[in-house]
Order: sequence, then C-alpha cells, then structure tokens
Amino acid sequence: MSDVAPNDLGPLWMPFTPNRSFKERPRMITRAEGMHYYSDDGRKVLDGSAGLWCCNAGHSRQPIVEAVQKQIAELDFAPSFQFGHPKAFEAAARIAALAPGDLNHVLFGNSGSESVDSAMKIAMAYHRYRGEGTRTRFIGREKGYHGVGFGGISVGGMVNNRKFFGPLLAGTDHLPHTYNRAEQAFTKGEPEWGGHLADELENIVALHDASTIAAVIVEPMAGSIGVLPPPKGYLEKLRAICDKHGILLIFDEVICGFGRLGASFAAERYNVTPDLLTFAKGVTSGVVPMGGVIARDHVFNAIDGGDDHEIRLFHGYTYTGHPMASAAAIATMNIYRDEGLFERSAKLERPFGDACHAVREKCASVEDIRTLGLAVAFDVTPEAGKPGKRGYEIMAHLFHEEDLMVRVSGDTVCLSPPLIVEESHIEEMTEKVARGINHISV
Ligand SMILES: Cc1ncc(COP(=O)(O)O)c(C=O)c1O
Repeated sequence: MSDVAPNDLGPLWMPFTPNRSFKERPRMITRAEGMHYYSDDGRKVLDGSAGLWCCNAGHSRQPIVEAVQKQIAELDFAPSFQFGHPKAFEAAARIAALAPGDLNHVLFGNSGSESVDSAMKIAMAYHRYRGEGTRTRFIGREKGYHGVGFGGISVGGMVNNRKFFGPLLAGTDHLPHTYNRAEQAFTKGEPEWGGHLADELENIVALHDASTIAAVIVEPMAGSIGVLPPPKGYLEKLRAICDKHGILLIFDEVICGFGRLGASFAAERYNVTPDLLTFAKGVTSGVVPMGGVIARDHVFNAIDGGDDHEIRLFHGYTYTGHPMASAAAIATMNIYRDEGLFERSAKLERPFGDACHAVREKCASVEDIRTLGLAVAFDVTPEAGKPGKRGYEIMAHLFHEEDLMVRVSGDTVCLSPPLIVEESHIEEMTEKVARGINHISV
C-alpha cells in the first residue's frame, strides 16, 4: 500500500472542472450553514447557486441533519428489489402529493442522470406493453441538459457534452431551442416570442412518423445552459401535439422542481401535466443523493400487473429509495411545507427579477439577462476567440475576491439561491455579480 500524502489534490479527478487550474488555486469548501459556505481559509461565502441548484432549503438544516443521523443509526440499508422499508414509501407519498394531477407513482434513483434514464426506459416499456413496441424514438431539444448518461446526452443539446461520445443512442431527434436574443433580450419571466416553436414538433412527427416516437423530453425552463424560460404557450402546445400523436411528454424538472419556479414543480406553475416527470437535487436539498421519476396512472398501470411472481419493469438501482435519502427527503419536504418555501420563492420572484435586471445599467458587457422564479442568467460578452474564459474568470474572481459562489455555463453567469434567501442577500449578490463582471470584462 502506498503512502498517501496529506492534502494531495492530484488523485481526485474533478468532474466538469479544469483540474490543473483548480489545483493551482483551489476553491475549497469546508463547512456550510444557512445561506453561506465557509472556505478553508476561513471566509464566509454567500451561496448564490444553492450549491449546484440543489440546496433549496439552505445548508445544514438541523431537521434534515437529525433525520439522516437517526436513520443511519436505525436502518443503514435495505434492499430495494423485492423488499421495502417504510421511509421510501413515505417519501414517495410526500413527493406524489406535491405533484399535480395523477402523477402518483414515484420510482427513485440517485441522481438526475439516472432519473432521465429511468424515464426514457419507462416510456419505451410503456409503449411496448401496449403493443406499440415500434415507438422507440426520443425527441429532445437543442440546448437541453438531461444529465450525462448516454440517454441523457443523446436527447440533450449541449454540444460539448455530446461531441466526444460517439454516435450516442440511436433514433433521437431535437426540437429547436427557444432562445432568440433579438426577440427576447432582457425578458423577465416567460418571453412573448417563441410559443410557435413548439409547432416544429409536428414537422418532426411528420418526418419520422408518430408510430416510431416514444416520448418528447424537455426541461420546462432550460437551466444548465443558462436559464431559458419557456415562451408563453410553448409547453401547452407541446402537450397538445404529444396528445394528438400518442407520444409521451417528459418534463425534466431536476432544476425546476421543489420551488425554484415558485411552485412545487413547473408542471404546476404552467398547469401542464406531463406523463413522466423527473426530479433530483432539491428533493433532499442536496443533502443525500436522490432522484426519481413520477409517472401518471396510465403509464404505471400499462406496465404494472401480470402474474404474482412476474417482474414487469426490469429496471432499478441498488440504492433506489435508500433509507438515508428517503429520510432526508421527508425532512426536506417538511421544511418546504412548514416554512412555506415555495410560496416564499413565488413572492421573491419580482424583487429578485428587479434586482437582477438592474445589473444591466451597471455592466456594459452584459448582453442579456433572463429571470424566472429564483433563477437568473447574465450573458457576458465573450473574449474574442476564447469562449468560456470570461465566465470562468468571473466565477473564480467572485469566489476569491467577493466571497460569492455562482454557477457559470460558458460566458453566462447564473444565480439560483437557496429559497431561504433574504432581500438583503439578493442585493448583495447582484451587486457583487455586477462588480465581478466589470472587473473581468473591462
Ligand atoms: C434538467 C437536468 N436533468 C438532469 C440533470 C443531471 O443531474 P445529475 O447531475 O444529478 O445527474 C441535471 C443536472 O443539472 C439537470 O439540470
């Protein structure tokens, strides 16, 4: 056995991170509480991104911590195939109760990527059990992010996430993205322009024939690419076209869910119920990995059944509905309910949007600002020939010099604070973002 040098940063291969430059000047987090992280050099860093869009209840919340501690002492693990434990059932019931309509059946996984994979497989199995096994094709959308599994990157539309990984899943196609700066720049909330882009689904159906298409998958608000709110009427149109052609509609709500858009789910905000809804992140406020799919009655019923011994859905993970994740989810739902955090998020949407859009006056290099719920993206003019450089430098500068954590996607700076954010925090983070952008861009 080799000796391990203390504080050796080498062996950890960091995901979605330029490893060398991180290790030259690490952004190391050692503690968190409420709205703040604490760095290894003792600084208190305001969390502008809810970690990675997930810590919606804020950090190190005592009821969640205690629920997880109690759970691990009581039941560390129980198999999720052929056996169950009460907390997984309770967590599923609590999540289903939050979801609109007859989205009543929760299949757990451990991440957003797994949730997307699960939803795609459920969609295929659904059609096959109904005698329409030719429906295997998936329609995603340009600029979409559905995690990093092969299914998710195949329906996703972020080029760098796809181009290294070969031909991907066969039989996918993509809707056009909904972003048009000339028509939509500096929109608060849902843009007026772009609802008609859902009609493109009719062309895609005409090209492939409905009999080959299993499902359409979209993020109601595209998050990871940099906050693209759905144009007015867009989601309703997608729903109608899917219904017309017997195609399942999947909402990937890994970011939108659990209050980010001022409602339990985007499905509730927009009054559009998908057939399958994926979630992760905010379900445990990031405390324990968990994700899942919520299916409507007709999807579950088409798959479930058969003889007593018969397994119908050949899918699941060792850690599906893990006791610790389930306990964390229940405690998180309690906080959301008891503190009215989804309503709080809805109430803060306007002051948050106003503060974010005020950055436009302060920063000449900001080309667009988009806000929806408690999420915002600031598009910064890229450095010529070096896309992503400014975004990276702004993120690093804000962490080191302004004690603020933000998320960047290319040259787009995003804020998505925990839902416990105060108006004073909003003021602080938008001022810091403006200073950071100006520091790097001029
Ligand atoms: C919409 C969406 N789907 C899926 C994922 C993947 O989730 P995970 O990183 O937990 O696999 C993400 C992550 O940001 C996401 O935003």
